[in-house]
Amino acid sequence: MGVENSLPKLLRGALSGNARIIQSATLTIIRQLKVSNPSVADELAKILAYDGVGASVARSAGLDSAPLDNESRLELVNIEEFDEDMHPPIFGQNLHEQIERFFRERSKMEDLIAHGLRPSTNLLLVGPPGVGKTYLSQYISCRLHLPLVTLDLASVVSSYLGKTGQNIKRVFEYVRSNKAVLLLDEFDAVAKRRDDESDLGELKRIVNVLLKELENWPVDSLVIAATNHPELLDKAIWRRFDHVLEIGFPDSSARLNILRRAIGELIDEDILSVMAEVTENLSGADLTSLCDRIARRVIIDSENIVQASIVELKSSLPDAHKFNGIFIRSAKRTLGKKITQKDLADWLGITPATVSHHMKGESV
Ligand SMILES: Nc1ncnc2c1ncn2[C@@H]1O[C@H](COP(=O)(O)OP(=O)(O)OP(=O)(O)O)[C@@H](O)[C@H]1O
Ligand SMILES: [Mg+2]
Repeated sequence: MGVENSLPKLLRGALSGNARIIQSATLTIIRQLKVSNPSVADELAKILAYDGVGASVARSAGLDSAPLDNESRLELVNIEEFDEDMHPPIFGQNLHEQIERFFRERSKMEDLIAHGLRPSTNLLLVGPPGVGKTYLSQYISCRLHLPLVTLDLASVVSSYLGKTGQNIKRVFEYVRSNKAVLLLDEFDAVAKRRDDESDLGELKRIVNVLLKELENWPVDSLVIAATNHPELLDKAIWRRFDHVLEIGFPDSSARLNILRRAIGELIDEDILSVMAEVTENLSGADLTSLCDRIARRVIIDSENIVQASIVELKSSLPDAHKFNGIFIRSAKRTLGKKITQKDLADWLGITPATVSHHMKGESV
């Protein structure tokens, strides 16, 4: 793909003053020019690094300005314009199919309505921190070509509890009149403070407001609720959701794809496969930040990529003292005869004899 393919996006971003679109188009162009025209690529990188683009996204998206809390005058929501060609989040096959099914249903909305069926207007995303709930919401907003309006319920509930019901209503009204995807982040916040007697009445009212709003939601918009603590949610709330997507930690093939996308250009596929094997229980966010740290070591400190990966991998995994053994056995499993004891010794900065001990499962 040539640089010219990114020009319409760049122009669109520039004319609407949308920083996110300008940045993403410029990053694509920089990557493409890195080899053919490095000096222009460098200049673009400098401009992007030092000259911020400071336009209001709300204005650029053609939306009304964000709703405010009456007392503090702080904005209640965060508004993001969709990025037309963002990468999809990487998930296992099963979840991926559920998501595509949801998109298929949205695309057949008119048919459903014509048959008297109510299309899905909401989605509950459940999963531990960093597995891609926010990312998936951004991706959905991009696929539906709607801006994403995020209401962080934890901050709304904690800072202005007395006014929360009103504020939530105001946000729903806003999204209703400005077609958008509404993300209710940290959705469990409305259930969390149950133990505190004094808050109970108010929280019940808030839950009722939410349930009513969910029921009356217009079909051309979408509400996504995200939570790390599904066990805290009221049964009545669960029932209101058309779809519940459970997002778990990525499996080894999803991990490989996440790593490949993040640093695939810098590093050999073999070591990527071993990294994917040993990073069980790391989330997508952990993996991308791991890759970020590796790339920084290589770019800023000119470190060797394999060494940088091993140092960062070791500090990301809980079993640092068992790391060499885990890594060696996993490399053998993944790469078999392709990898020699000498290669492993070089990668890990230890002697071949130590590698051989680890291979036999002996403690060193
Ligand atoms: N499945 C994934 N595929 C690709 N990248 C991912 C994935 N999950 C997370 N990431 C990376 O990690 C970043 C943070 O993930 P995200 O904010 O979506 O997690 P989250 O589930 O919303 O976490 P939290 O519960 O803390 O809000 C993403 O912007 C992306 O770079
Ligand atoms: Mg999130």
